[in-house]
Amino acid sequence: MAGTCVIGLQWGDEAKGKLVDLLTPNYDLVVRYQGGANAGHTVVVGEKVYKLHQIPSGILNPSVMNVVATGVVLNPATFIEELESLAKEGVVPNENLMVSDRAHLVCPWHFLEDKALNSSTADGEDIGTTLRGIGPCYRDKVGRSYAIRLGDLYQDDFKERVDKIVAAKKGLIGALQGSSADKVDLHPKTIYEQYVAYGEKLLPFVGDTTAMLLDAIDEDRNILFEGAQGALLDVDHGTYPFVTSSNSSGVGVPSGAGVPAEAVGKVIGVIKSYSTRVGGGPFPTELHDELGQKIRDLGNEYGTTTGRPRRCGHFDAVAVRYSARLSGVDALSLMMLDVVSHLPEIKIASAYELDGQRIDYFPSHVSELRRVKPIYETVPGWEEDCSQLQSWDDFPAGAKYFVKRVSEIVGKPVEIVSVGPDRAQTIFIEQNWRAGLPFS
Ligand code: IMP
Repeated sequence: MAGTCVIGLQWGDEAKGKLVDLLTPNYDLVVRYQGGANAGHTVVVGEKVYKLHQIPSGILNPSVMNVVATGVVLNPATFIEELESLAKEGVVPNENLMVSDRAHLVCPWHFLEDKALNSSTADGEDIGTTLRGIGPCYRDKVGRSYAIRLGDLYQDDFKERVDKIVAAKKGLIGALQGSSADKVDLHPKTIYEQYVAYGEKLLPFVGDTTAMLLDAIDEDRNILFEGAQGALLDVDHGTYPFVTSSNSSGVGVPSGAGVPAEAVGKVIGVIKSYSTRVGGGPFPTELHDELGQKIRDLGNEYGTTTGRPRRCGHFDAVAVRYSARLSGVDALSLMMLDVVSHLPEIKIASAYELDGQRIDYFPSHVSELRRVKPIYETVPGWEEDCSQLQSWDDFPAGAKYFVKRVSEIVGKPVEIVSVGPDRAQTIFIEQNWRAGLPFS
């Protein structure tokens, strides 16, 4: 069985969608297994730009089966919108899309909760969520009392369930908002009717994805697992509490998809040639100066989902070394090399200083991460446009050296380099990194 997963190793937005789209022809199935409409995957094919949030990036390839597995929190309204906008482009999924009947549904009260809590931590600091109701939906999933799964839409007691949950949520949200329950804008009849209508539209795609994936494994089919967000946003292993609410690192694949751990074969870690972050939380290599703005402009670092300007900074090899090891990465895909190709010099954080001591690990507590100072290695820039280069041999020596240092400091081989958004702007480095090629 050949399973491969594509995992972002930073704070999301590493251009995973492009890579998944590119790898898709080699796979029978593409699986989304965590997160929800907070994700934004941009895939550029020729003149066309597709923005996908919940539908796997493999959807552009009609021979691939696309699976939205159990660990995803599904927003049915925007999922249907996404289907409709794909249809306008002539992409009409039929037999090649399946959504888990076990996936939890994001419901109207989840948006109100995300907003009412002002997405803040216990200390009142802003997490800066995407306000897509992701955290509240996962909270209800784990809490069980107020959860709705996709399969529940088709049960006889669904109306009763909505009535009960809405009554309880009105009280809870009223308390959060400091208003009385009857002022909370939730109407059980409308919600019930809306969700029944969503259920009808989704019905052709609903199924037991766990059983289907287990069969696919038995049949030795090739599966590509498409991670959303990035490993540093993992709810257990990321920069908690400034994280998303799912296991977005490599450790989340088996539980989210519903497959045994051995089904995850090769892990490709996706990294940008610099760092970005959206929302709050520690970011040791963040730049607040003109260089940060230059990277933002060159990389068009504005959110696919929210349009928010992304915080930008130098490449943080300490953070990526940690997230790559955590995720069991075999190979790295280095994106946006074209962006740093315009810089006179490039910095890589290879260690941190914490309270006067040099450390090479990624601290587990946010208070320490806030105090660390990056120790940089500077790589000379090459200031040559790389975006049209087709072969690794043609790359400037400076670019090759940068890629070599990223591989060495992170401790994993860079096997793929991306120099622009188009499929054609991708170079597969056929080499054995451990033998020192092709960097010699
Ligand atoms: P949530 O996932 O909406 O709860 O947001 C929690 C944190 O994760 C916030 O800092 C978001 O900006 C961040 N986040 C969520 N999804 C993405 C993503 O797809 N890319 C980058 N950051 C994300």
